[in-house]
Amino acid sequence: MSDEHSEHVLSVVVCAAAPATHVETLVREALARDWTVQVIATPSARPFFNGATIEELAGSAVRSEYSAPGAPRSKLPEAIIVAPATFNTINQWALGISDTYALGILAEQTGLEIPIVVIPFVSEALAARTPFERSVKALRAEGVSVLLGPGGIRPHPVHTEAEHVSSFPWLIALDEVAGMTGFGL
Ligand SMILES: Cc1cc2nc3c(=O)[nH]c(=O)nc-3n(C[C@H](O)[C@H](O)[C@H](O)COP(=O)(O)O)c2cc1C
Repeated sequence: MSDEHSEHVLSVVVCAAAPATHVETLVREALARDWTVQVIATPSARPFFNGATIEELAGSAVRSEYSAPGAPRSKLPEAIIVAPATFNTINQWALGISDTYALGILAEQTGLEIPIVVIPFVSEALAARTPFERSVKALRAEGVSVLLGPGGIRPHPVHTEAEHVSSFPWLIALDEVAGMTGFGL
């Protein structure tokens, strides 16, 4: 966990869905709420945003790979936000697949009972698939807060994602984290 006397570390896991182009919104607001932010991106998410801008803001590297053996490790966070979360990452995470750095972090840190908040960004067609419904249920059963449905995001009609990027509800993730940790209100 974070050193309670110095900093409160928030990991932001970014997946390859359209709202990732605006992840700066989340990073800025988290910093304004006094979080120390470390950003982890899936390899597919890297082209969606300007990594140098995020690194300058957060003051740390955007990570998509494990450290080399013996190199310094990332800090264990006080909380994690996964946003936007893709169909792919949600399903792999729920199954315990760990073939990206982001999935590896989620696999292990779910087991540490670190508060985790997820905002999926999926079409209605993807959200209605049985594997996805099963994954959301499984993650919730492990204590993960998936902000989908009432009080969270609603899946969008197929091929309308561009219309929903600007209204992606980044801040409800921070509010939920504040409720779970008591920090960042
Ligand atoms: C421009 C673009 C937009 C995409 N939007 C979404 C999306 O909204 N939701 C989703 O689940 N996948 C979306 N995808 C597909 C994912 O990027 C793809 O499944 C990828 O393998 C996910 O990798 P990740 O889960 O490791 O980030 C999009 C892909 C592209 C190229």
